[in-house]
Amino acid sequence: MTTFREILIAAETELLSADLFFGHGYESAHDEAVALVLAAADCSLVDTSAAILDTGYPATALPKLRSFLTARCEERLPVAYITGEAWLGHLCFKSDARALVPRSPVAELVLNHFEPWYQGPDPQVIIDVCCGGGSLGMLAKSLFPGAQVLLSDLDSAALSLASENSQIHAVDGMVRGDLLSWCRSSCVDIIIANPPYVDADDMRGLPAEYRHEPGLALAGGEDGLDLVRVLLADAARILRPTGILILEVGNSFGALDDLSDQLHPIWVELEQGGHGVAVFMAQDLAQWAVSEDTTNPVVSAK
Ligand SMILES: C[S@@+](CC[C@H](N)C(=O)[O-])C[C@H]1O[C@@H](n2cnc3c(N)ncnc32)[C@H](O)[C@@H]1O
Repeated sequence: MTTFREILIAAETELLSADLFFGHGYESAHDEAVALVLAAADCSLVDTSAAILDTGYPATALPKLRSFLTARCEERLPVAYITGEAWLGHLCFKSDARALVPRSPVAELVLNHFEPWYQGPDPQVIIDVCCGGGSLGMLAKSLFPGAQVLLSDLDSAALSLASENSQIHAVDGMVRGDLLSWCRSSCVDIIIANPPYVDADDMRGLPAEYRHEPGLALAGGEDGLDLVRVLLADAARILRPTGILILEVGNSFGALDDLSDQLHPIWVELEQGGHGVAVFMAQDLAQWAVSEDTTNPVVSAK
């Protein structure tokens, strides 16, 4: 009998020798091996106890595990695209190449009920813009069931995945549109945004794993902020005075700091790891928008 433990050690060894990049929700070869070994045997990642380690690994799962390891080590596919699922917080999402693998550190702020950043009344409207497969917005809806949670993305393939995920984790609406241009309200309490923000330098050096993700999900132009500039102006237009924008820009944090003296990003120290997540207060954004005259397309494009 070959045990789960033996199979796990062999899988981890194979992953370690394949020179992989671990940036898609699992931090190490060990964690990825656990996910692949369990998924091939149709065992739950969260409900399987360690007692399984010394039981026999099903022989019928071996061909599936072999194909999983080949996909990971040779094709450099992220684990989520191999197993078809990804966890964010307490929720499990369907994941495939139609959208980015869910892994945003913004989840930490959502799971903390946006505290201490959001100081307004119970949020009535939350928007997850650039929602991809919908994970952040769906996580928000699970914690704020009384709020209207809307998701939007430009990419219809990503929205089709979000729509499938919403069969399990319901939200209040989905819009196909360019950033927040579709939103006519000025009563939004919280905007969650993980837009494409990878700058041109980082795009050139991306590990192979990222090249399986949609190009539209990553590239943010020369300094990474092409979409962020527009998003900031849109957020200023639609947030309530007590509202906040939570914006992930990853490695482009320096460019965002340099964007304007009038912008006041509050950089969040993330306990669960990650970096480049800023909170903006609606009133700061409104003052910045006036100072930049963001309604003037020539100025706002600079
Ligand atoms: C970094 S991914 C984030 C996906 C998701 N929020 C997450 O955290 O997994 C960025 C998303 O922005 C979308 N996007 C790109 N350009 C856009 C635009 N102009 N308007 C709206 N969405 C856009 C992409 O399709 C992609 O789904």
